Amino acid sequence: MADYKITLLKGDGIGPEIVDQAVKVLNKAADKFGFGVTYDEALLGGCAIDATGVPLPEETVAKCKASDSVILGAVGGPKWDDQPGNNRPEAGLLGIRGALGLFANLRPSVIFGPLKSASPIKDEIIGDNMDIMIVRELTGGIYFGERGKSEDAAWDTEKYSVAEIERIARVAFDMAMKRNKKLTSVDKANVLESSRLWRKTVIEVSKEYPEVELNHMYVDNCAMQLVRNPKQFDVIVTSNIFGDILSDEASMIAGSIGMLASASLSGGKLGLYEPIHGSAPDIAGLGIANPLATILSVAMMLRYSLGQPQAADAIEAAVSEVLKTNRTPDIYEDGMNKVSCSQMGDLVCEAL
Ligand SMILES: NC(=O)c1ccc[n+]([C@@H]2O[C@H](COP(=O)([O-])OP(=O)(O)OC[C@H]3O[C@@H](n4cnc5c(N)ncnc54)[C@H](O)[C@@H]3O)[C@@H](O)[C@H]2O)c1
Repeated sequence: MADYKITLLKGDGIGPEIVDQAVKVLNKAADKFGFGVTYDEALLGGCAIDATGVPLPEETVAKCKASDSVILGAVGGPKWDDQPGNNRPEAGLLGIRGALGLFANLRPSVIFGPLKSASPIKDEIIGDNMDIMIVRELTGGIYFGERGKSEDAAWDTEKYSVAEIERIARVAFDMAMKRNKKLTSVDKANVLESSRLWRKTVIEVSKEYPEVELNHMYVDNCAMQLVRNPKQFDVIVTSNIFGDILSDEASMIAGSIGMLASASLSGGKLGLYEPIHGSAPDIAGLGIANPLATILSVAMMLRYSLGQPQAADAIEAAVSEVLKTNRTPDIYEDGMNKVSCSQMGDLVCEAL
C-alpha cells in the first residue's frame, strides 16, 4: 500500500482551521482508496517569526524536502506588519517556493454548478462549464530580477532565460495534453524584449507538442478577453507578474476567493498545495472560514503529486454535491444550510 509523507504548514490566521479540514478529507480519501498518509507539521510565516525569529526556519525547509508533498494554509496578519520586508511572513512564502524549486504555479479557475450565481459575470458569458487553468512562472521575472533605488528613482528588472521559459512551457503543454489541447501563451511581445524571447521560446517548445493548438495573446488583451469571453481559454501560460494579476482576475470570475485552490510544482513529484486566499485575520478563530479551497488543493495534490486521480475526482465530486445545500457564510445564499468551517469538512467527508 502506498504511504505518503505530507508536511503541514498551517501558518497564521485561518490557516490552522482550514488545514485541519483538509486533513480530515485526505484521511477519508485514504481510507476509501486504500493508501496511507503520515503527517509532520512545520512552522512558516508569522507563527515561525514568533517561535524562532524568522519566517522560514531551516527545519521547515528540511521537513518539506523530505516529504512527498506539502499542504499550506496561509501566512501573515497585522501582528507582523511592522517586520522589515525580508522578515515578513510573506518572505517565508517566497523563500519556501525558492528552496523547493517550485517554478510552476497552477491556478485553476472553475465554476462549480451550484455556485454559478456567485460569479459577477453574466450566465450566458460563463456557460455551463468554465474551466481555465493558468500556469504561472513562479521563480523568475521581475519579482526576482535586479532591483535598486536612488534618491529620486527606483527600478526592478524583468529577466528570463531560455531554460526558465522552456521548463514552464513544457509544464503548460503537458497540462494542455491532459485537457483540451489548447494553450494560450500571454506576453507583451509588442513592447518587451523579455516577452519576445518568451514568445520565440514557447514556439520552439511547441514543436515537441504538435497536437496542441497554440496561440499568443498580449497581456492587456488577455485581461479583457477573460471577462469578455472566458470560455475561449483552456490552459494559459505566462510570466510571474502577468500570471499574478491574470490569475486573480480569473479567480473573481469563479465567484468566491474561498473556493480557489492552487498547486506549485517543481520538475519532480514534490509540490506545495494551498488555497489562493490569505490568512483572513478578520475571521480567524470564528470557525466560519470556508475550507473548500484547501480541500480542493488536496484534490490537486492527489492528482499532480501523489498519482491518485480517482481520489481527486471523488473529492471534487463530493464538494460539488455538498454545495447543493450547504454553504459557509462567505458563499451563503437564501434557502441553504449555513454551516461552519468544521461542519463543511465533515459534510465533504460524508459525501465522499
Ligand atoms: N498565500 C498566502 O499565505 C497569502 C495570500 C494573500 C495574502 N496573504 C496575507 O494574508 C493577510 C490578509 O490579507 P488580505 O486580507 O488581503 O486577503 P485575504 O485573502 O486573507 O482576505 C480577503 C477577504 O476574503 C475573506 N476570505 C479569505 N479567505 C476566506 C475563506 N477561506 N473563507 C471565508 N472568507 C475568506 C477574508 O475574510 C477577507 O475579508 C495579509 O497578511 C496578507 O499578506 C497571504
